[in-house]
Formats: sequence, structure tokens, C-alpha cells
Amino acid sequence: MIKRIRSWWRHKDNPNVVEITSENIPQHVAIIMDGNGRWAKRLGLPRIVGHQSGMKAVKRATIAADELGIKYLTMYAFSTENWKRPKDEVDFLMRLPQEFLAIELDELIQKNVQIRMMGDKEGLPKHTLDAMEKAIKLTENNDGLVLNFALNYGGRKEITDCMSMIGREIEAGRLRAEEINSQWVEDHLQSTGLPDPDLLIRTSGEMRVSNFMLWQLAYSELWFTDIYWPEFNKNHLHDAVAEYQRRTRRYGGLS
Ligand code: FPP
Repeated sequence: MIKRIRSWWRHKDNPNVVEITSENIPQHVAIIMDGNGRWAKRLGLPRIVGHQSGMKAVKRATIAADELGIKYLTMYAFSTENWKRPKDEVDFLMRLPQEFLAIELDELIQKNVQIRMMGDKEGLPKHTLDAMEKAIKLTENNDGLVLNFALNYGGRKEITDCMSMIGREIEAGRLRAEEINSQWVEDHLQSTGLPDPDLLIRTSGEMRVSNFMLWQLAYSELWFTDIYWPEFNKNHLHDAVAEYQRRTRRYGGLS
């Protein structure tokens, strides 16, 4: 039987009630949280206020994803290219994970959320990494929603690291070229253990993937919205999932 979940909230640019069936909920949703800076600028506020509000939107998206029965939620929190930003902004962004976890970890544990991370740990400040590792450890046995932060993450770096691992394994005589297939690659990416995203959401009107999960997004459905990330709420997630459910996924085949 198809259970109907209704989103009753009507927002100004979508007055229709959104209808979502529980039968076809995307298993993995990945989000490029864009537009923090522009949101703040529009209000005449410093960029960091946008990031601070973006952190609250992370909480809203997590709760909404969990309520819908989404199993994996990956959030692009800091890319390998974001180091190019002014030091003050980078320092602020690097404090957000621990601030978020200080406020939200207890509730996330109660909700059985498992926290994960992908990205290069070596480049992260100790305080950021310590906070993430503590949360990962404390939630490792939870089997609810997997909240996966992409932190100091870059898709090209991830693939390059995988290729370099292949080279080392071959050099050491532990791997033969014929043994390399897409499963081997998947097993050696930072997202190992997670299915590919079914749905990619990007906010702020930009329509690009910005070095995010380049391998894993091969057949993901893409959903873009003009709203800035700090404005994102449960209704936007419902809109994205409703649109996802109207799509036909063919994976290169015929429907
Ligand atoms: C892009 O917007 C956003 C980022 C580079 C940072 C995203 C981080 C958060 C939303 C907070 C993360 C929270 C946790 C819990 C880790 P932008 O600053 O590039 O916006 P702009 O394009 O308008 O300048």
C-alpha cells in the first residue's frame, strides 16, 4: 500500500500541497549548501552570519530528512578549494562543526543518527578533527540516518588518491591491473559504504557540481533552487523529493 506523506506548509512560490509517496524516497540525498554569503549580504550582514545561519539549516535538513525516511544525507561543508577564502572566514568555517556538534550532538544521538565524514583529515585544524572524530565514535553504532559531512573534500582529489593507491598496490604486487573494476574503485573512495546519491540538491541558483562527488553523482537526479542555503527548510526538501519522484531514472537504458 502506498502511504501518502503530505507537506501541508504552502510557501509563496509554490502554493500547491506537495505530495510524496513513502515508496520512492531517495535513499541518499547529497546537498551543496550554497548562498550563505549572498544571503548575509542581502541583509547587510557579514558573510560569517550567513554561515552561522547555514549551520541552523543543516539541523533543519537533518531532521526533515530523518522524518522522510532518507537513510543517508551528505552535506558539502567545506571543499578543498575553500582554503582560498580569507583566513577569518576559513577559521570561522572550521569552528562550525564543533559548534554544531556542541549544540546538536545529544539530540542527534537520541535520534539514532550516525555521523560520518569524508575529506582529507590531515588538512583540518586539530579542534575541528577532534570534534568530528568524537562525534563519529559516539555515534558509530547508531543505525538511523547517516549524516555524512564532506569536510576538506574534493572529488578530483578523492579520485586522484584512489589512482595513486592503485599504483602503490600494483607496485607492491598486491594488485593486478585485471582486478581493477568499478567496484574496486568504489571500495577505495572516501564514500565507501555509502550508496551513490539518488538526489543532489544545490541551493542559491548556481547550477554546477563544484568538484563534489564526481564519481558518485554519475546517475544522480539533480535539483536546483534559487533560495539561499540559510533559508532552506523542510518544505524545500519535500519539494525536491516530490520532483525526484516525478522523474524516471533510466541509467542509460530505456524506461
Ligand atoms: C557556500 O556558500 C557555503 C560554504 C562554503 C560553507 C557551507 C557551510 C555551512 C552551510 C555550515 C556548515 C555547518 C556545519 C555543521 C559543518 P558561500 O559562502 O559560497 O555563499 P556565496 O556563494 O553566496 O558567497
